[in-house]
Amino acid sequence: MAEKSYISPEKLIDGKAVADVCNAETAKRVAAFKAKYGIAPFLHVIIVGEDKASQTYVRNKAETARAIGMGSVTEELPATVTQEKLLARIAALGGDAGVHGILVQLPLPKQMDENAILAAIPPAKDVDGFHVVNAGLLATGQQGKALVPCTPLGCMKLIESVHGRDLSGLNAVVIGRSNIVGRPIARLLEQANATVTILHSRTRNARAFTASADILVAAAGKRGLISEADVKPGATVVDVGINVVEEGGKRMVRGDVDNAGVAAAGRITPVPGGVGPMTIAMLMENTLKAAELQTG
Ligand code: GUN
Repeated sequence: MAEKSYISPEKLIDGKAVADVCNAETAKRVAAFKAKYGIAPFLHVIIVGEDKASQTYVRNKAETARAIGMGSVTEELPATVTQEKLLARIAALGGDAGVHGILVQLPLPKQMDENAILAAIPPAKDVDGFHVVNAGLLATGQQGKALVPCTPLGCMKLIESVHGRDLSGLNAVVIGRSNIVGRPIARLLEQANATVTILHSRTRNARAFTASADILVAAAGKRGLISEADVKPGATVVDVGINVVEEGGKRMVRGDVDNAGVAAAGRITPVPGGVGPMTIAMLMENTLKAAELQTG
């Protein structure tokens, strides 16, 4: 259930609606790809262990892939699997011409070196965009050749739905510096001509920065991080936080932004129903892009 919001409905950015439009467009392009090459783009997802939240995310990814006409397999490995075994599976999939995208769901069990696993995925099949080659292409402005991380791409589409593609003259503030969200979204915002500031856990007086943000991206994974006094009136607020909290005896998913307290925001993404559906839509686009790069 969406959080009770004191923000008028027209201020909410409906991520599900934008994702539906993206997926419909990808489905058309998938049909054209099949007609041209006689094969469907194929996504292979690996999940290690039995984390319930990860299983839900992975199921949604595979179901969406099939719904838009792509092939998809989810491979479940036990939490006790060795790093060598996982690396061997990735190597086999890397050499399989029928597999266009490989995604290893994170987090991985403690015995795994996450960076080593991500480095083993061939960059052309790295639909998460986490490989250092893809990160490097993005960082050097070669986005067209790169597979770019899905959540940052999804955030950009939502921002685009409000501000258009050119963010010249706008101040963007990103809270969080993870390789999955904070760093790549800062690169994308800068390449769209925004003036970008990255805040993190060691930043002093964060409010001095957030209060001048025309676009505020909260990606710290901290419930209640952003409240009214942090937000410039009229700003666009993108909430990437996924925090599971207890409310009235129920487990609920909530963002980093206190929706009840940021009525001053111009536009805001809800949690759930904002960035989440966009992440999956962008994974579909990336899988198609990977298939095109490998086949074309
Ligand atoms: N875990 C949480 N988000 C993601 C994601 O975007 N990709 C992968 N592989 N794992 C995740």
